[in-house]
Amino acid sequence: MLTNSADRPHPVLYHIGFGRDDLGEQPPTLALLSGDPDRARSIAERHLRDVKKLSENRGLNSYVGKLPNGRPVLSATSGMGAPSLSIVVNELVQVGIRTIIRVGTCGSIQPHVKPGSVVITSAALCRQGAANDIAPVEYPAAADPFLTVVLAQAARRLGVEHHVGITASVDTFYEGQERAESANPHLLRALRGITEEYRRLNVLNYEMESGTLFKMGGVYGFAAACVCGVIAQRTEGEQVVLEAKATAVENAIRVAIEAASEVTGQE
Ligand code: URA
Repeated sequence: MLTNSADRPHPVLYHIGFGRDDLGEQPPTLALLSGDPDRARSIAERHLRDVKKLSENRGLNSYVGKLPNGRPVLSATSGMGAPSLSIVVNELVQVGIRTIIRVGTCGSIQPHVKPGSVVITSAALCRQGAANDIAPVEYPAAADPFLTVVLAQAARRLGVEHHVGITASVDTFYEGQERAESANPHLLRALRGITEEYRRLNVLNYEMESGTLFKMGGVYGFAAACVCGVIAQRTEGEQVVLEAKATAVENAIRVAIEAASEVTGQE
């Protein structure tokens, strides 16, 4: 882990384990933010060049490297859920990040949103406790519209099956996403039928981080967007469709890299 010392003008941030001084002469302002540390590493190793590992503190793996267009980028890990994401995002902004693209996974709520495809979130129905520490519950959880269009255009260019729309961003994978076949013997009455209700409200998918990310973007003043690979089909069952996972994740990563190249190319 990197540490603070007298010759470092900026501190190492406690959770992410690196600071502004570790980001080189051309520090990145855009971060690709994965929930899973293996995904952050895989993005760095397979899609970036001149990669430097910054930290693997607490499983919050972070790497700095160059996009195919030669521009610097960070590949970082949010961990699972909004509390962890809120800490990482706060610290990424402290080291100079101004654009964040979440690269995640999700469960579909609509029959036409198939495993293997990607969902690009335009706004989130935010049912997250961490977000309430950042802004009032009524505060919009909206993605940056320009970055969202860039993601959708990237998906179209790459021929990746994609859907743009509203995501239910919730705190729990089991109860909050109405998984009744888990260890919890009593799913709250308030949550029974919620998936069907969301389906009728044209919500596309469930995931666990975008709502808080978007509210932070609004309050802090950075651009936030989200692309998630679909790995569960909740109109058919509760399980993750393991056969679709590799394709879904790879599609989300390719779309995010293409969009990042587009926006950093305009800097
Ligand atoms: N992530 C979620 O939050 N839900 C799913 O069903 C799949 C991935």
